[in-house]
Amino acid sequence: MNDTGDKFTDLSAENVKEKRPQFGNRNLENQDNVFEHNAWDNVEWNAEQERSAKEITENQWKSKLSQEKIDEYEKQAGTHWDTFYGIHQNRFFKDRNWLFTEFPELLPPPDEGCGNNIKPQETCVVNDSSFNLLEVGCGVGNTVFPVLKTNQNPNLKIYCCDFSPTAIEIVKGHPDYNQDRCNAFVCDISDEMSATPISDNSLDIVTIIFVLSSISPEKMQYVVNRLTRYLKPGGTILLRDYGRYDMAQLRFKQGRCLSENFYVRGDGTRAYFFTQDELKQMFEKAGLVEKQNLIDRRLQVNRGKQLKMYRVWIQCKYVKPC
Ligand SMILES: C[S@@+](CC[C@H](N)C(=O)[O-])C[C@H]1O[C@@H](n2cnc3c(N)ncnc32)[C@H](O)[C@@H]1O
Repeated sequence: MNDTGDKFTDLSAENVKEKRPQFGNRNLENQDNVFEHNAWDNVEWNAEQERSAKEITENQWKSKLSQEKIDEYEKQAGTHWDTFYGIHQNRFFKDRNWLFTEFPELLPPPDEGCGNNIKPQETCVVNDSSFNLLEVGCGVGNTVFPVLKTNQNPNLKIYCCDFSPTAIEIVKGHPDYNQDRCNAFVCDISDEMSATPISDNSLDIVTIIFVLSSISPEKMQYVVNRLTRYLKPGGTILLRDYGRYDMAQLRFKQGRCLSENFYVRGDGTRAYFFTQDELKQMFEKAGLVEKQNLIDRRLQVNRGKQLKMYRVWIQCKYVKPC
């Protein structure tokens, strides 16, 4: 299983109907039963856990890297991700098994079938049948291809970008890549000089899944503003990303901290760990309106090794007002 909590691929069109209820509902009532299942939902943290997590991150911060190293990782961010995909190809990230339960906005409208009883995207543009989606930081297409497969809306067009040319080559070489429905391109979304084929006010949905966290905190607001500009009035940004004190944050060793709550992994890729409030402020500053901002706390259990892993993810939906 990777850091983003995905462990199997099950996104065929038939399989998308409520495999797992939204955010899950297996609650741990009795600590004695903790090793009876692989995962528990809605796990409450006690004061001691919070205190210990805070102490760990404060210690990490004490061994912050030098400014020179921080700048170098920033300059090489794209290269590190490109090397990552050169090594792992399409084997690292799995298709998102929670994609359609958490984001039913990605399913076709009800009259297209497939069991989506969510109202079609409520854009403010009258007589506009296009349905344009941008998947930012698409990697090798673990969101793109499940959506293309599941959402047969003939008006759906998926744009997807990543700053790794290797990842985009892999997307374009996928057997389900179809230029009529999908346009994959290389773009550093945090760089204003890096162009996209996307016009302002043209997108119904932007998905940004475990991507904002890999961008330097100083550039995040620019990215959110840019994506907001691309949205149609009524369009929505869907985000899922790391939450503060996720296990992946707490296991960083000394000498990996770039700035508060921002770290570099051994392979040079970086990760930030958000609070709900930080994301709220960023999206609202861009002029978006909150539809959802949730924290998903899960306890994953390795029953063989009797290990407990506390995961924290944040999920947001923010809408551009009409
Ligand atoms: C953790 S991976 C997630 C990939 C994909 N969204 C998924 O859920 O499988 C982060 C991705 O963001 C991309 N990325 C990071 N910073 C980026 C930037 N500034 N512009 C475009 N892509 C970026 C990386 O290359 C990588 O593919």
